[in-house]
Amino acid sequence: MNDSASSIDKSKGFTGSDFSVSEQSRHLAIEIFDELRQLSPSEIGVSRETYGPSETAAFELIENHATDAGLEVQWDSAKNMRIRLPGEAGDIPSVATGSHMDSVPEGGNYDGAAGVIAGLIILIDAKNQVKRIRPMDLYALRGEESAWFGGPCYFGSRAMFGQLTENDFTSPHRDGEKTLADCMRASGADVDLLKTGARLIDPKSMHHWFELHIEQGPILIARNKPVGIVTGIRGNHRHRHVTCTGEAAHSGAVPRWLRHDAVMAMCDLMVRIDEHWRVLLEWGEDLVVTAGIVETNPKEHAVSRVPGEVSFALEYRSQDIKTLKSFEALIQSECEDVGKRRGVEFDLGIPSLTPPAVMDPEVIQILRDACDAHGATYEVMASGAGHDSSVFANMGIPSGMVFVRNDKGSHNPHEAMEFEDFFVATNVIGSAMLAAANDQTENT
Ligand code: GLV
Ligand code: MN
Ligand code: MN
Repeated sequence: MNDSASSIDKSKGFTGSDFSVSEQSRHLAIEIFDELRQLSPSEIGVSRETYGPSETAAFELIENHATDAGLEVQWDSAKNMRIRLPGEAGDIPSVATGSHMDSVPEGGNYDGAAGVIAGLIILIDAKNQVKRIRPMDLYALRGEESAWFGGPCYFGSRAMFGQLTENDFTSPHRDGEKTLADCMRASGADVDLLKTGARLIDPKSMHHWFELHIEQGPILIARNKPVGIVTGIRGNHRHRHVTCTGEAAHSGAVPRWLRHDAVMAMCDLMVRIDEHWRVLLEWGEDLVVTAGIVETNPKEHAVSRVPGEVSFALEYRSQDIKTLKSFEALIQSECEDVGKRRGVEFDLGIPSLTPPAVMDPEVIQILRDACDAHGATYEVMASGAGHDSSVFANMGIPSGMVFVRNDKGSHNPHEAMEFEDFFVATNVIGSAMLAAANDQTENT
């Protein structure tokens, strides 16, 4: 076992193997994953809609299992759920874990839900554990996914800290009919209170935050390791609706030099963006760029028409906020140049901005110790995907994440995970939480 120092006094309780998921909880977890999949409406994957009925149904499933196990359930004004062991001291900063319950449309069953189910079985099994100094909480969080409201994300966790903005509340649902505020109200959230920016919890009331999540990428499979320990989480800039306006024309009658073809201009822009991306990677910057939606107007578009307008979404992510800002400036300047050369106009709109986050080095050490104690091989790695943990970390709460190896990626219906890997990661988080729950140092 690695015995390098952390602020956690292991003599007070962390023996590493303190926590191991019981046989009963293993069965329960598998059963809940199964029930969750069955109640999530979908065609090929699962669809648990941010602040929609399917997300609420998933919350109620977790609530029922928590209540059956004798745990205390509380809903906050954003309709997040906190689950706690009964009789815990209310005034001592807690050690918390959790994740989100929503999914992307036609996504997989594990993105988010794995972290909530892990937390639930940790609390259930911790009931029989040695006395702790600190309470242990599980948060099931609302609306982490950006897919339903076109860009902004982490609604539930940001609501906890009074961070939702007017831009969030007015974000249109992908069906084009309702806003986030409408859907939050329909789910029972107190939107008027959230609009005041009131904090639903004091960050000082959370001593540590832990999140278990599937990796969503190929690294752990490639390295043949069940577990990842996360060092940092990429932030993003998302332009949900970029428009490029040129001039519609007859595709046979208008020569190249007289065209203002919006689609050709967009392609020109994309090739330039892709080339900048390549060069920045060569310079050692961290960056990924995606145009996940591209649309010409189906009411007008035709094989025989030069497109006068195209709209698209543009997202770029980095661990470095400076890279995000300078890439935005670069895109702006390329839009102007392509616009001049081709006689079109780009409107990038106002992007939603999500800052990157760094996980706490001491928490990383606790997690490494817990892996060593359980004999789990692990990879220390950055997270390309976004997670609620970045909100907790950026509020100054010492935070850490454990990834579970998963197959076939994520944000797609084929996402897969071996339960054995999930239980290894749950043992690691459970042990680390117990270590932190016996930590006497104050948050500063
Ligand atoms: C979260 O799901 C993300 O898009 O990174
Ligand atoms: Mn996701
Ligand atoms: Mn997720």
